[in-house]
Amino acid sequence: MGVLHKLESFVKAGAAGDDEFRAAVLSGLARHPKTLEPKFFYDERGSQLFDAITELEEYYPTRAETAALESHAAEIAAFVGRGASLVEFGSGSSVKTRLLLENLAGLRCYVPIDISGAHLQAAAERLAADYALPVIPVHADYTGAFALPDVVPAAGRLGFFPGSTIGNFDPPAAVAFLRRARDLLGPGARFLVGADLQKDAARLVAAYDDAQGVTAAFNLNLLRRINRELAGDFDLAAFRHEARYDPELGRIEMHLVSRAAQQVTIAGHSFSFAAGESIHTENSYKYTLESFADLARQGGWRSEAQWLDPEGLFSLHGLVAD
Ligand code: SAH
Ligand code: AVI
Repeated sequence: MGVLHKLESFVKAGAAGDDEFRAAVLSGLARHPKTLEPKFFYDERGSQLFDAITELEEYYPTRAETAALESHAAEIAAFVGRGASLVEFGSGSSVKTRLLLENLAGLRCYVPIDISGAHLQAAAERLAADYALPVIPVHADYTGAFALPDVVPAAGRLGFFPGSTIGNFDPPAAVAFLRRARDLLGPGARFLVGADLQKDAARLVAAYDDAQGVTAAFNLNLLRRINRELAGDFDLAAFRHEARYDPELGRIEMHLVSRAAQQVTIAGHSFSFAAGESIHTENSYKYTLESFADLARQGGWRSEAQWLDPEGLFSLHGLVAD
């Protein structure tokens, strides 16, 4: 039985609060084009819908990254070495983490970091019950500065950022994130980062527009969250989900497209939508091994090793702090 340090002990500055959500929605919808940050997808229902996405036939990244972790487990363990403290960014349900907990030698503790507080707490409790190591959940927004609790040893930190969640940042924001992560993890740190690879547009679009409509529900849930938390009156049926691939920028974009001209009121503010106008809700950048290694270099990390799944769909980079 592990030791679970209660979530409340570590709720830190940086976890998105109600005021931040309100300000971000009001300013994002006043912009042209209308834009909202993907970190706001993850209320409790959003976290559950993301878990459902990972089970979809079309959504290959979770399966491919899991296969990369499994098929290169020994090399990854050799890269990490003994006695690391594992710090995971955007840990969600911490499912892939179990592979690391089972393969890495002498781990000191596991620190899952997530913006989705209750989901984080539940996942941390499950892991603490299943593994004999301290589990220290940190409820924080990693787009801003925050500190790790003092109980996390300062030396030998191993960052883990799976899922290609780094692809949800545009390149300058990804570089800024990597620099902050280097400062947080400290000198001599290592970092395992998942980066989805470029591939044909049809496969990418299918992964973000599945036949069952789970990704559509995940995207539309943002409007439901605005209605509930910010007294919004979005009619969800008046918007449709769209996934577009931009080959120039190498990214999938998710949009919520207004089916008709309409007015929406949020927290007493009125917003107009033209027919066909969209809210841009997410980017998901796809890389080559070289383009990601270059991004990592700009962020202060050297990509020392790269591991792929057997189909070559997804990459895991073993980074060393420069
Ligand atoms: N690591 C898991 C989950 C990926 S989903 C996997 O690979 O399957 C992205 C996760 O990052 C969600 O759990 C979400 O709540 C979290 N997240 C998104 N933006 C965040 C932010 N700004 N700060 C902290 N966590 C964030
Ligand atoms: C969390 N992140 C890496 C996912 C992605 O693939 O960009 C979020 C997601 N959006 C739609 N489907 C999954």
